[in-house]
Amino acid sequence: MAELAVRGGAPVRPQGYPAWPVHDERDVEAVASVVRGGRWGGFPEPGPLAAEFAERFAAYQGSRHGVVMSNGTVTMEVALKALGIGWGDEVIVPALTFSATPYAAMAAGALPVFCDVVPGTLTIDPDQVEAAVTPRTRAIMPVHLGHQMADMDRVVQVARRHSLALVEDCAHAHGQRWRDRGAGSFGELGSFSHQSTKLLTAGEGGSLLTDDEQLARRAHSLIDCGRPKDPDEKDYTFGANYRLGELHAALLLLALERLPAQQAERAAAGRRFQQLAGEIPGVRLLPPDPRITRWSFYRYVLLIEPEAFAGAGNELVCEALEAEGVGAWVGYAPMSRYDLFQPALSRLPVAVEHAARLDPAAMSFPVAEDAALRRTVYLDENVFRAGERGVGDAVEALAKVQRHAAELAGARSAQAPGESGKNRGR
Ligand SMILES: Cc1ncc(COP(=O)(O)O)c(C=O)c1O
Repeated sequence: MAELAVRGGAPVRPQGYPAWPVHDERDVEAVASVVRGGRWGGFPEPGPLAAEFAERFAAYQGSRHGVVMSNGTVTMEVALKALGIGWGDEVIVPALTFSATPYAAMAAGALPVFCDVVPGTLTIDPDQVEAAVTPRTRAIMPVHLGHQMADMDRVVQVARRHSLALVEDCAHAHGQRWRDRGAGSFGELGSFSHQSTKLLTAGEGGSLLTDDEQLARRAHSLIDCGRPKDPDEKDYTFGANYRLGELHAALLLLALERLPAQQAERAAAGRRFQQLAGEIPGVRLLPPDPRITRWSFYRYVLLIEPEAFAGAGNELVCEALEAEGVGAWVGYAPMSRYDLFQPALSRLPVAVEHAARLDPAAMSFPVAEDAALRRTVYLDENVFRAGERGVGDAVEALAKVQRHAAELAGARSAQAPGESGKNRGR
């Protein structure tokens, strides 16, 4: 008789975890009120609710200005364009992130140059950033991954030393604070996603934060078809329509009201999880960097040792956890696995020119590859919104999968761990 739910045994948590996004009648009323009011869209930009949300969210993160737009991918493209970064420029990005980060560099016309991550946090390695700087480098885009933040002390230092712009990808970091300073407020611009799984969501949406009024104006113009936003400007400049409508902005305002209590609940549950899960053989926790002074995490990322799981990699373990009722995901593939981001395979003129230096054969990121292809398990945020029992059940599920990992062995024996791409696309 099999024990693991994935093999037909009884699941640890058949009732699952609380649904996301959280909503109640106030959301329905807020949307209804926009519908009744007739001001549905984002034009004229910004709409009143979008402007109110942008101001409040910027203040919450500790930035002066916020610009709301349609998602957390175009935010980064707009950030680079607002900084004047484009053709022929290089932008440094971590090898472990969602494809949106390097995509944004390419959408602006720049070349993404990847750096490996550090083993303790799986965020960009500042030493490698420094080594990757060339005369063409214009910006660094650190990503605050899962429950961690990039080492902002070091990344800021490198950016200053080489006069590079800093654009933080904070899609996972609403509410995070590093030495009491909000994510997104360290460099020229900080980018946030409000996509449906994110900590502050309206289903879709994105925010750019900045202290620089001029950059904020440029961002407003870039997302509003190039309409002039500066009193001194008369004519249209370069831009597209990336505006967000007022229905979404109404939902974002309510989501922001709920965020602080949700953050505190997840942080307390995350600490409890770390106390309980540390003893499970083959499970390596990655405690948050101690310089994170307000812990507000999207997903908790842990590493498994396949040797302690009867050789099973993260794909089989995530599948088994899901069957036990605990939301788990293998996370992003390393960037060396995407043809799209291997400049030597690209036909962009700048990439061809630099093909030798950016040869895919030389694109090796041992830390990101080893972690992402075999070890990373991202636990869903709702595990940390279900009280002590919720955390206890997740720990029990993880321990159970490890204890009975022999049942996983041979399940897909022909398939090397991490190679199928299954369960990647969230
Ligand atoms: C790290 C990271 N960056 C950027 C994005 C892009 O955000 P969006 O889906 O809002 O475009 C996401 C998530 O989707 C993400 O996880």
